[in-house]
Amino acid sequence: MDYPNQVRIIDVGPRDGLQNEKSPVASGDKIALVGKLQAAGLREIEVTSYVSPKWVPQMADNHAVMQGIARDAAVRYSVLVPNLKGWEAAVQDRPDEIVVFGAASEAFSQKNINCSIAESMERFAPVVEAALAAGIAVRGAMSCTVGCPYEGEIAPARVEYLAGLMRGIGVQRVDVADTIGVGTPLKVQRAIEATLKHYDIAHISGHFHDTYGQAIGNTVAALQMGVWNFQSSVAGLGGCPYAKGATGNVATEDVVYLMHGLGIETGIDLNQLVDAGAFISNAIGKKPQSRVAVAILNKRAG
Ligand code: HMG
Ligand code: MG
Repeated sequence: MDYPNQVRIIDVGPRDGLQNEKSPVASGDKIALVGKLQAAGLREIEVTSYVSPKWVPQMADNHAVMQGIARDAAVRYSVLVPNLKGWEAAVQDRPDEIVVFGAASEAFSQKNINCSIAESMERFAPVVEAALAAGIAVRGAMSCTVGCPYEGEIAPARVEYLAGLMRGIGVQRVDVADTIGVGTPLKVQRAIEATLKHYDIAHISGHFHDTYGQAIGNTVAALQMGVWNFQSSVAGLGGCPYAKGATGNVATEDVVYLMHGLGIETGIDLNQLVDAGAFISNAIGKKPQSRVAVAILNKRAG
């Protein structure tokens, strides 16, 4: 088995991890989290989203957070943008990359962004065009690539279709997301295979939620196919407001521990990462959801 020598981890904690928090998280804590993640060695961080504050109140401080972070030229800062209104707001803060987000399931597209898959592409197309013209990279998140909270199991053909639409409007790379964490290794591999019809392996990232405890297994399954871009949330924070019951992303600490154990470089200092996770967990009054973080914190305490 040929594993890649190195992987790139995108921490989506400040966005995916915090978007579902019921009580407002102070912008200062979000800014401090981004600082701690980059200090730990993260080179890609998904910072916030420019969506309706009525839909996702937690991300209403997008400008304050983007303007408050101490940007490091070596780090790529990405933000979610669903439409031209979001783009106009986002461009003021000069993200390095914007993320349009679609779904392989019609029902989820409606619940999450209030339009069909076809309509979402009409909304995204001018955003993608404007971003590329402004020299800003474009990623596409593909939700529900194995299962949907409303439609159940999703066929790989739906993923292939969505990936083709993303490619058609100029999206440069895509995330294969298991939004509700129901995937198992072979199903995730089929979703990645479907995506490979339109994107090469270097332009596909794995985005696995850990609801059923399969995300590390799914990460290994993706790695075995040659995927080397992965998204995760520090401390395993998160959940999607429009995917009831779905828990957080796979924890960044767990992915880093896995990679280092396999001899794969991440560029991340696990101890500093654990500190970043402990910081934000404490700020929101929760225990870290990462098994690795808990083990390391217990070891330190002992
Ligand atoms: P809509 O209601 O269809 O939009 O919402 P609209 O164009 O009809 O406008 C309605 C109102 O929203 C208007 O305000 C607009 O100005 C405002 P009003 O006149 O009523 O006061 N509006 C906006 N405000 C701020 N920013 C904007 C914006 N657009 C319109 N960009 C919309 C469409 C997409 C905006 C809405 O459905 C929305 O905000 N949805 C939230 C989606 C979201 O953030 N979901 C979570 C992130 S996705 C995710 O977590 C999955 C992922 O992690 C991968 C995975 O795990 O699957 C990425
Ligand atoms: Mg997600």
